[in-house]
Amino acid sequence: MNDAVIELKDIRKKYRMGDIEVNALNGISMVIQRGEFVSVMGSSGSGKSTLMNILGCLDRPTDGEYLLEGINVQSLSGDEFARVRNRKIGFVFQVFNLLPRTTALENVELPLLYNREISLNDSKQKAMDALTRVGLKDRMYHEPNKLSGGQQQRVAIARALITSPSLILADEPTGNLDSRTSEDIMLIFKELNESGITIILVTHENDIASWAGRILFMKDGRITSDNAGKGHYRKNNGSLLSGGNGEET
Ligand SMILES: Nc1ncnc2c1ncn2[C@@H]1O[C@H](COP(=O)(O)OP(=O)(O)OP(=O)(O)O)[C@@H](O)[C@H]1O
Ligand SMILES: [Mg+2]
Repeated sequence: MNDAVIELKDIRKKYRMGDIEVNALNGISMVIQRGEFVSVMGSSGSGKSTLMNILGCLDRPTDGEYLLEGINVQSLSGDEFARVRNRKIGFVFQVFNLLPRTTALENVELPLLYNREISLNDSKQKAMDALTRVGLKDRMYHEPNKLSGGQQQRVAIARALITSPSLILADEPTGNLDSRTSEDIMLIFKELNESGITIILVTHENDIASWAGRILFMKDGRITSDNAGKGHYRKNNGSLLSGGNGEET
């Protein structure tokens, strides 16, 4: 069954700085199916964040084709591009980007503020639900500086959830957290994934990456390996080359 959330065909990204050109992505092709949990690894400068920015419709590729839930992203105008980003994608970063002197509840509500289809009451209820989902029901009225790092990241995850995205993109979400707290955060991602949300997560740490069912390695703007759980190996085009234990559906 083909239920691809993401289909990339030969995606390239070139940055130009004065006379210097950097080829940050050199032909990325892959398919990510709905419900996958994918880790992206690779050394600094290998293109992980560049890829995430393109996947998240924060930036456009120089070349190649990107289908997000079947929508050809290149064909979208600026407004449509932003709308797709706001409706379909939740972002979590290494820095929590929470507004200071603003409660957890208000921080989580923020993405809905400009959505005229949702009433203020509804958005408050949604924010409460999202905070409950990440285990912060009893911290809703705390401001960020009264929360621990792990709690702040959980607020950021709740904020990413509020629009009911089909895809969560997390760029080193545990980069500022100790290993115990990182594990709590990964448990939340795992639960969200089990509820059906597709997750793509960048990390430098093997034990964080191993929470995912599929691990991509990048080098010099290319995907150099793509390993699924249970010993599956995927080619760059996303096709399964070998089944590990015959449990294929
Ligand atoms: N806005 C930009 N302008 C010019 N070059 C850029 C820009 N953003 C990234 N690059 C370059 O593109 C390449 C890939 O960068 P990217 O940020 O995607 O790497 P990364 O894998 O996320 O690294 P890290 O692990 O350090 O976060 C690097 O050579 C980087 O210097
Ligand atoms: Mg990066």
